[in-house]
Order: sequence, then structure tokens, then C-alpha cells
Amino acid sequence: MEEKLSSVAKTLTPSPIQELSLLAQRCNAVNLAEGFPDFPAPSHIKSAAVSAINSDFNQYRHVQGVCDHVAMIMKHMHGLDVDPLSNIAICCGQSEAFAATVFAIIDKGDEVILFDPSYETYEACIKLAGGIPVYVPLDPPCWTLDADKLMKSVTNRTKAIVLNSPHNPTGKVFTEDELETIAGACHTRDCLAITDEVYENITYDKEKHISLASLPGMQKRTIITSSLSKSYSVTGMVYYFTYQDLHSTAALVGRSHILPKSCWRISTNKQFLHMLIFISAVCQHGCVLSGWRIGWAIGPACIVSAIRNIHIKITDSAPAPFQEAALTALRSPLEYFEWLRRDYESRRDYTIKLLAGVGFQVQFKPQGSFFLFVELPENCVLSDVAFVEELIKQAEVVAVPGCGFFS
Ligand SMILES: Cc1ncc(COP(=O)(O)O)c(C=O)c1O
Repeated sequence: MEEKLSSVAKTLTPSPIQELSLLAQRCNAVNLAEGFPDFPAPSHIKSAAVSAINSDFNQYRHVQGVCDHVAMIMKHMHGLDVDPLSNIAICCGQSEAFAATVFAIIDKGDEVILFDPSYETYEACIKLAGGIPVYVPLDPPCWTLDADKLMKSVTNRTKAIVLNSPHNPTGKVFTEDELETIAGACHTRDCLAITDEVYENITYDKEKHISLASLPGMQKRTIITSSLSKSYSVTGMVYYFTYQDLHSTAALVGRSHILPKSCWRISTNKQFLHMLIFISAVCQHGCVLSGWRIGWAIGPACIVSAIRNIHIKITDSAPAPFQEAALTALRSPLEYFEWLRRDYESRRDYTIKLLAGVGFQVQFKPQGSFFLFVELPENCVLSDVAFVEELIKQAEVVAVPGCGFFS
């Protein structure tokens, strides 16, 4: 039967996260591979969804109010003038917004720049569209973007550069200089940028999220993709730390109950000998909207029109009652986002202290998103996958290997 698969489907492999989750189930391990929350969404937001269902918003639907709110937020956050009618397409989460964007602009053979490491779904979408991912490594320990490396990789075959800031998996927030470098590359090679800004509201210390689209001349070249999932879901924090030994790790993550078990996620990486731990924070006031699948793409009208056409062909519309309920979430006051940032920041600091206290080293303090990346010791002979397998078997804690984030 395999010969019936398309050639691109054959190139896609299951994510290590899924495979290890299965192993965890078989071993009855504490599953920290998937960062799902163990707390409910606030009742007023759930009520908004229930009320939308009871009001018979149950058919295919486009809720223009979502675009109106997103446009206002873009103006407030980034000073961008966005026409809610022509510059925004509502999609099923950032994931669909990103895929539809790629299908809207990528032809067979087009090259697309990805930073390495990066969130795993970008590569798959680009390949499905017939595009060619070209990786530009970010330099550890601070995951710095080297302008020369970028400029050497951007050619006249480059159609777009993908930027995710705040960044999964490193927790990096790209600096203004780095954004200017990316903008410069787009101008020089006349290419587009696709940004993934799902962690736009989660930055720490004095870091501020700057949208690439707000740099001079970039709005007309940028398609912003984002969603309700992270700003309103508060599903997790990810920490990557230096491996000490399986048992202290188990004590820390699996058995101490310092943080909610169901929200942990661990990953390791052989190449950089990294190990990551995904630590979810329970936020009393947070919304759990990741599963509601409401996201958007913002960009030039003709590209957004193509994205909308693709979205309609693939899914027709984002879930109608959740679009209605999104109106309630998007009206959240500024204090909510301040609280969100402060809450995550204190959890980050707490966890770094906790890890340092049991001998782990944090090389790069996360500036945003839910992630922290640190190295496994050089004398760790196991691959990241083997390490995680041992962690499951010996400590009954399931983790995610970091190799999934590298090309
Ligand atoms: C960088 C990044 N982008 C997108 C997503 C998924 O967003 P959505 O739930 O809106 O599809 C995730 C989820 O983990 C992510 O980490």
C-alpha cells in the first residue's frame, strides 16, 4: 500500500513527541511529552461559547468582529494600519494560517529560509507545497542570528523567510538588529516574510515583542500569523536544562509535585547535547483556548485573499461558536496581559532557581515564549532519544527529544 502514498507524504515522519507519548502510555509513565493544561478555562469565556451554541451559531461562519479586534490590537501593539476587511483572514489556529500562507505564496522549487532550530511544522508545510526549506543556524548559547550566514543563504530563489519570535524552542526574542538584518535580506532579495507571533504576549524582563511588519517597508512584505492559543491558553512553560542524572530528574519532574505533572514536557538534543523540560504553569485566570482553533493571517490584501480562498477550500470556516467566544477573549483588558507576563516570569525565575539548586545549569535565560534551552553534559553517552527512553523506563517520566527541532 505504501507505494500509493504521494512522494511528499513519504518524506514526512511521525514526530518523536507522538512516538514517545505512545511509549509513555505503554509504560504507564507520567506523560510530560504533551503540554496540555490541567485546569479549566475561565467560566465567562466558556459561557460565551455555550451561549453561542445555544444561540445557534452552529453553521459555517465568518465573525467579522474577530478581524475588527485583531486590527485594533495590531494598531495598539505595533502601530500597524490593518484593514479588517481585506488584510485579515481568520483560520483554524496559527497552524492553518501558516499552512494556507505557504500554499498561497510557495511554488514548486521556491526556497524558504528557516532558522535552525525551529518549530517542526514549518518544514512539513513548505515541503507539502513543493518548496525547499533552507536552514540558517542560530548560534548557541544565545541563539544569535549571524547576518553573514543569513545573507549567504538568501538567494534569488528565496521566496520567503520564516521568523518565529518569541521563539520555540529556545525562548529567544529576536533583537531589533536581527530584525533589521532579516528586513534587509527581504528588501535586497525582494522576498516575503512569514512571521509566527503566537508568543507575542509572553515576553520577560524588559524584552518587548516587535513585529517584523512594523519595520520600515516591511508591512507590504510580511504575512503575520498568530492565534488565540498561547496568549489566552497559558498551557505551559518549557525549560531546557543540563542533565544531571535520571533519578534527580525524575525526582524533580515526576515525583515532587512542585508543578502540575500533566503540564510537564522534556526534550533532549544530541547535536547540541541539549535537554529541555517543558514546565507548564497553572494560571488561575488563564483561558484554555488552544483547542478552539482560532487564528489569523494578516498581510497584503491580495495574499490574504488567496489565504482566505485556501482556508475556505480546506476547512471552510473556523469553529463558529468559538469565533463568537473569541470576541470575549480578545476584549481582555491590558491588565490581563501584564498579569500573564508577570506570572510566567515569576514561574521562570522560580524554576531556574529550583533547577540551579539541584545542580542544573541554565545557559540561556528565556526572554519570551515557554522555553529554556541548556546542554546535556558532554559525558552523557546517550542520544537524546535514548536518554528520553531511559527516562521513561527508569524514572517513569516521558520527555521529548530536542532533535525534532533541528534540521
Ligand atoms: C511556535 C508555535 N507556533 C504555532 C503553534 C500552534 O499554534 P495554534 O494552536 O494556533 O495552531 C505552536 C504550538 O505549540 C508553537 O509553539
